[in-house]
Amino acid sequence: MKEKVENILDEIKSFKAQTQDELEQYRMKFISKKSVIGELFGEMKNIPNEEKKAFGMQINTLKEAAQSKFKALIAGLEQSKDSAADNDHEDLTLPSAGNSLGAVHPLTYVRNEIIRIFERIGFNVSDGPEIEDDWHNFTALNFPENHPAREMQDTFFIEKNPDMLLRTHTSNVQTRLMNSGKPPFRSIMPGRVYRNEAISARAHCVFHQVEGIYVDKEVSFVDLKQTLYHFAKEMFGKDTEVRYRPSYFPFTEPSAEIDISCQICKGDGCQLCKYTGWVEIAGSGMVDPNVLSNCNIDPEEYTGFAFGMGIERIAQLKFRVNDLRLYTENDVRFLKQFRTLH
Ligand code: PHE
Repeated sequence: MKEKVENILDEIKSFKAQTQDELEQYRMKFISKKSVIGELFGEMKNIPNEEKKAFGMQINTLKEAAQSKFKALIAGLEQSKDSAADNDHEDLTLPSAGNSLGAVHPLTYVRNEIIRIFERIGFNVSDGPEIEDDWHNFTALNFPENHPAREMQDTFFIEKNPDMLLRTHTSNVQTRLMNSGKPPFRSIMPGRVYRNEAISARAHCVFHQVEGIYVDKEVSFVDLKQTLYHFAKEMFGKDTEVRYRPSYFPFTEPSAEIDISCQICKGDGCQLCKYTGWVEIAGSGMVDPNVLSNCNIDPEEYTGFAFGMGIERIAQLKFRVNDLRLYTENDVRFLKQFRTLH
């Protein structure tokens, strides 16, 4: 069946139409209801269930190829008519044939926006490994052994070496950065993270975070508040309200969760904000002195703040995407809607 589809595609590609009749032949053969492609759609019912999706996608691509070729053939005929009338002089002012461009993935767009906002206030971007050891992902970050907080993060361990795991947050890059030299550090870390969750509209085993850290002399909670306040206004608009709620993370003390006024109902109450008018966008806090010591930074001399947010979450609030699975399914009908972003 695959071969048949490929043969039709070859035929489409090499088809030439110099006359109106040939164009009509093309239409009958590849576009009309009784075309070979139409027949393929009819065969769908004989395809085993598990192959239906792949086959459907193949013939859809074929159909699109047939249609765009049809447009090109029409344009070609029009042009040759024009140039014949023009005594074979080409019209150089004609617009060129359209190019179908792709779109930026919404998560890429949001990640780039976050980077842009923080870069403008002096943060650089750091990167680190997705396959990480226990020390960088947990121990250095003040997760004591057998502490329940480790369990909260549903970790994927590497079977052959239980000391290795898929990072559960991008905080491992904070450890690596702090361990790499002397402060000041002012950096954000975007990246992919993994948690052992069943895939549903609201949870996924792979998602993206951006974390940030600022360590220097005399960094205070005011710096944390103001930085994230600035971020929220830049990302969601200046009417956005921001609030900080006390929270707990092993690696920060004090810790705060950051909420913004709900982007969907503007604070009136809706399903997304569970009728509270607020939605959570990030976790944050002052870097715990233990974490600084673990990374050979003197907590008497230096202080710092850190924060972390989910890129999917920010994209959900910005674009009202209500199913996380859409981000990874590569469905062009979803992706096409972001064409105007860049
Ligand atoms: N690492 C935390 C998480 O994955 C987020 C966070 C980062 C919180 C830095 C506070 C400070 O949920």
